[in-house]
Amino acid sequence: MNNKKPILISGVQSTGGLHAGNYLGALQNFVALQNSGKYQCFFFVADYHSLNEDFNPKEKPKQILEVVLSFLAAGINPKESVVFVQSAVPMHAELTVILNNFAPFGELKRMAQFKDKSEAAPQNVNVGLFDYPVLMAADVLLYDATVVPVGEDQLQHLELARTLARKFNARFGKTFIEPKPLLTLTPRLMGLDDPNKKMSKSHPAGCLFLDDSPKVIKEKIMRATTDSGKKIKYDEKNKPGISNLLLIYSALSNKPVKTIEKMYKNKGYAEFKKDLAEVVIRVLMPFQKRKKLLKTNKQKLKTIIAAGNKKAEIVANKKIIEIKKKIGLTII
Ligand code: TYM
Repeated sequence: MNNKKPILISGVQSTGGLHAGNYLGALQNFVALQNSGKYQCFFFVADYHSLNEDFNPKEKPKQILEVVLSFLAAGINPKESVVFVQSAVPMHAELTVILNNFAPFGELKRMAQFKDKSEAAPQNVNVGLFDYPVLMAADVLLYDATVVPVGEDQLQHLELARTLARKFNARFGKTFIEPKPLLTLTPRLMGLDDPNKKMSKSHPAGCLFLDDSPKVIKEKIMRATTDSGKKIKYDEKNKPGISNLLLIYSALSNKPVKTIEKMYKNKGYAEFKKDLAEVVIRVLMPFQKRKKLLKTNKQKLKTIIAAGNKKAEIVANKKIIEIKKKIGLTII
């Protein structure tokens, strides 16, 4: 690892299968940024973050592995990037406890995700859900990360990380770097069934999952909600359905939206959708194949994760010692 490069970090929750929003808003960008050679990259499974909704402990190991497999199958190379599991590095929890004392209660209460999830599951509004953005700030600040590739839904949380860094630095001297978000051209992919709602695991009906079979991909895309009219044209306001599909096509084919519009100038929705399904299948089939292959060598996976955990812990441990010193927690 070249320690002089700026640090980049991002995480994905272990809550089940990843969808096209995760891929186009984050994962695809993780790989491009790693391959740019500009950063020292850390990618982790946010398994602590996944505990604030109802979960089955028997499913957790599989869900954690699922994220690691998706990282690797998408092209994250553990020889270049550090791949690790959040809960294996205890300093994430330690820094959360420390940062909690500087996190404004009112600001956390107003977080969009907290409000949405509280409304969606009023029977389980827990402190973990409330404190989620502070844990996320700890994830990032612990590594002195300068950039964090995420989807748009995480911007508010990252803003809190910046606020906490500023506050802490002002009081105890320069300790943290204020991290900047990095967005893709598809920072907010919308649901296939309802293009006015974000594609989200909590609403599986609108998701295109990375593990969907070619048959399911075709069905889902052909069924995707489109708009009245016939034109294949990007117009987020009046044609949110077609615009969303155009973004998927563009991001997966590396063709600008304008080029795709021209390709389908005199063609209908059905032909466009049929071709889009082919584009999606062409990207996802090799991804699924790599995942399947990686799954057969559990030992190798465990070795990769253990090595990543160790590397992350060395960085995190150094930082937590520095932080504790700054706040006077250093009797011995
Ligand atoms: P998570 O697991 O919900 O999502 C993983 C990544 O996918 C992005 N994403 C989307 N992008 C575009 N369109 C969508 N419809 C869409 N849905 C999800 C998310 O923005 C995210 O980048 N809190 C984070 C995990 C996390 C984290 C961190 C990220 C924990 N600690 C520190 C960065 C840095 C989350 O729940 O992501």
